Amino acid sequence: GAPIEVDLSPIAEGQDIKVFWRGKPIYISHRTKKQIDEARAVNVASLPDPQTDEARVKSGHEQWLVVIGICTHLGCIPIAHEGSYDGFFCPCHGSVYDTSGRIRQGPAPTNLAVPPYQFVSDTKIQIG
Ligand code: FES
Repeated sequence: GAPIEVDLSPIAEGQDIKVFWRGKPIYISHRTKKQIDEARAVNVASLPDPQTDEARVKSGHEQWLVVIGICTHLGCIPIAHEGSYDGFFCPCHGSVYDTSGRIRQGPAPTNLAVPPYQFVSDTKIQIG
């Protein structure tokens, strides 16, 4: 599949959009300061799949989270802005992901994957 470009400017703070890349759903979240702070206040060593928030977003663009919207348990599509960590909730078996897309509760073994992407301008990314 070819790379896709996504214009971020219509996505208001606190909102998410879903796009498709290589047939996969990709969530793009415009995170609020509170959501970023929550993601960074975590004791990373306590996480099932320890990863810092800094490692999951692009430096200088911390408000943008880009993840593949496929639950790492058995592949359902989690719902954005659901669950007790204000991130993603998978209705199939109850996996809960945080505002960094990291697994916090439930059977999923790993964090939501981050696809390859880069910023081509402050308001546009290329995925792939
Ligand atoms: Fe998401 Fe099982 S597929 S919790």
